[in-house]
Amino acid sequence: MQDPKSILITGGSSGIGAALALAYAAPGVRLALTGRHRERLDQVAAQCRAAGAEVVTGIVDVCARAELAAWMAGQDDARPLDLVIANAGISAGTGAYGETDRQARQIFEVNFDGVVNTALPAAALMRPRRRGQIAIMSSLAGFRGFPGAPAYCASKAGVRVWGEALRGMLSRDGIEVSVICPGYVKSPMTDRNDFPMPFLMEAGRAAQIIRRGLAANRSRIVFPRRLAAAVWLLALLPPGWTDGLLARLPEKSADPDSQAGA
Ligand SMILES: NC(=O)c1ccc[n+]([C@@H]2O[C@H](COP(=O)([O-])OP(=O)(O)OC[C@H]3O[C@@H](n4cnc5c(N)ncnc54)[C@H](OP(=O)(O)O)[C@@H]3O)[C@@H](O)[C@H]2O)c1
Repeated sequence: MQDPKSILITGGSSGIGAALALAYAAPGVRLALTGRHRERLDQVAAQCRAAGAEVVTGIVDVCARAELAAWMAGQDDARPLDLVIANAGISAGTGAYGETDRQARQIFEVNFDGVVNTALPAAALMRPRRRGQIAIMSSLAGFRGFPGAPAYCASKAGVRVWGEALRGMLSRDGIEVSVICPGYVKSPMTDRNDFPMPFLMEAGRAAQIIRRGLAANRSRIVFPRRLAAAVWLLALLPPGWTDGLLARLPEKSADPDSQAGA
């Protein structure tokens, strides 16, 4: 959608979500931002207000389905939502531990259920007016399972495929759906990685790419291209050919108690 004026972003308190908020912040734009950390959210809101946007913040966990739906409905009442970006997500420490049982379930809850909890109410709000756009945050990690992050990869594959199908289904209602698949983007999530991240990109640049892709109503917004090409090749080859290579890739450092980051 070109020039959305009422935008809701989950996970707007840091990283890519915050960069997206700033990318859209301008006079005449209303931003509704969620996160769980008040201080970080307020900092982003202040920057967006300085750029001329009207900003509303909500401390809402994307796993709290009813609370999130009610908050979204309130934002839609205040100004009908043009664009909803289901961005909130977590990754877990692996390394020596692998994803713990608790981490794996949290990742699915936030990265998959949290996206469903955001996109379905958005669709219900947009459907009567036959207008609106939903963006779903997947990842290049959603094209092939990597041993360092099984639940993360699976959660991102799940929302990617769900979003692609949703695009066809909701097009009948006049609603646009795009799936976003970034490679490595500098953020608190990747700051903890102590291994080389090929083609690591600043969050501001990623936000501009995403914004352009959404304005063009692209089905998939995949970047950077060179890393995407490598991942697609990995996904195309028979898994047995690449398992050995992937098993040797560096992993995030172990942090069994961390809910985000690593
Ligand atoms: N960075 C990358 O390289 C990369 C690559 C591909 C895809 N992605 C995806 O991009 C999205 C943003 O990641 P990021 O790199 O910007 O990470 P980040 O800086 O850690 O930001 C994650 C955001 O999600 C929010 N969040 C986490 N759990 C939440 C919950 N239960 N309820 C509500 N909000 C929650 C966080 O809010 P609080 O901190 O306030 O809780 C924060 O605003 C994620 O879905 C991630 O998987 C990132």
